[in-house]
Amino acid sequence: MIAIRIDRFGGPETMTVSDVSIPEPQAGEVLVRNMAVGVNPVDFKIRNGQYPEVKADKLPLTLGREVAGLIEAVGEGVERFQVGNRVFAMIGADGGYAQYSRVPSAHLAIIPSSIDWRHAAAIPLAAHTAWQALMEHGHLERGQKVLIHGGTGGVGHFAVQFARAKGAQVYATASAGSLAFLNELGVDRAIDYKQERFEDICRDFDLVIDLIGGETQARSWQVLGEGGRLVSTLEMPDAHHPQAQGKTGTRFTARPDGHQLREIAEYVNSGQVKVVIDQTLELREAAHALNFIETEHVRGKVVLRVPQRDSEQKAG
Ligand SMILES: NC(=O)c1ccc[n+]([C@@H]2O[C@H](COP(=O)([O-])OP(=O)(O)OC[C@H]3O[C@@H](n4cnc5c(N)ncnc54)[C@H](OP(=O)(O)O)[C@@H]3O)[C@@H](O)[C@H]2O)c1
Repeated sequence: MIAIRIDRFGGPETMTVSDVSIPEPQAGEVLVRNMAVGVNPVDFKIRNGQYPEVKADKLPLTLGREVAGLIEAVGEGVERFQVGNRVFAMIGADGGYAQYSRVPSAHLAIIPSSIDWRHAAAIPLAAHTAWQALMEHGHLERGQKVLIHGGTGGVGHFAVQFARAKGAQVYATASAGSLAFLNELGVDRAIDYKQERFEDICRDFDLVIDLIGGETQARSWQVLGEGGRLVSTLEMPDAHHPQAQGKTGTRFTARPDGHQLREIAEYVNSGQVKVVIDQTLELREAAHALNFIETEHVRGKVVLRVPQRDSEQKAG
């Protein structure tokens, strides 16, 4: 099968379209024939050697961490899924950009029939991250005020919509060209992070979701009220910051969870949450896709279509 592999860390030149064997599902796993796969910043961080959990001893590996496709085979002990099911999942740090992926069945959910392959592939990693940030680490409640930094990206566009669906008051930051997009997603206030200071606009907030880190994170303590929470996907917030008193900060890593993915899929299926795809490229264009999300202003997600015959890929 075709897979996009790296055998050393570095830039786009390290990514090769390789011919490798189709993996065998182990006990508790299924083999998925991928139809589309999602693209996330973690993919270029792994490729660049900037992701702490993937060191050189894990190489070579296949990039890509979310997949949507048909179950081709099931391993021993898998009872909830059958060959032919339409499924999607967030997967570990090896194996997504490929025609077939091995996936633990506990990470999988059935794709509702209203969601096509591309939109399904755009959901798992980004939506799990948004959900876990808001609900598990942020303990968001109806009526609370939340500020989401980076509200237009893969994680941010889900976070804005989940927070709205929960009944929270949602403020989010973006660059000027993406403010209209934030308004379409339903924010109460779109903040242009280059022209406005979010700390002049937000007061006594219950929660900040930090998808940016650095100075943006440090300045975020002051928008929180007593007992407020700062939740980051990037860096552990500094609990000794002068404005951190009476507030809590955490950094987390998203985890796959099939039951949670089923719940997330219902929000999409019911139309409460929209999956926004900025670009769809072919699997062999994965290096270009990573370059795009690393350097451009992405709105929502980028996905890769997976060829169903080797000849399609080689001819391309
Ligand atoms: N810990 C975890 O498990 C986990 C999971 C998923 C993601 N992450 C990390 O979380 C971050 C966000 O992920 P993503 O998939 O949403 O990335 P993404 O799709 O690339 O989106 C990032 C967004 O940030 C915005 N942005 C850039 N600088 C900003 C600033 N100073 N203030 C406000 N917004 C700014 C950009 O919007 P504009 O174009 O409008 O500037 C862009 O839309 C990434 O660093 C990713 O690696 C971590």
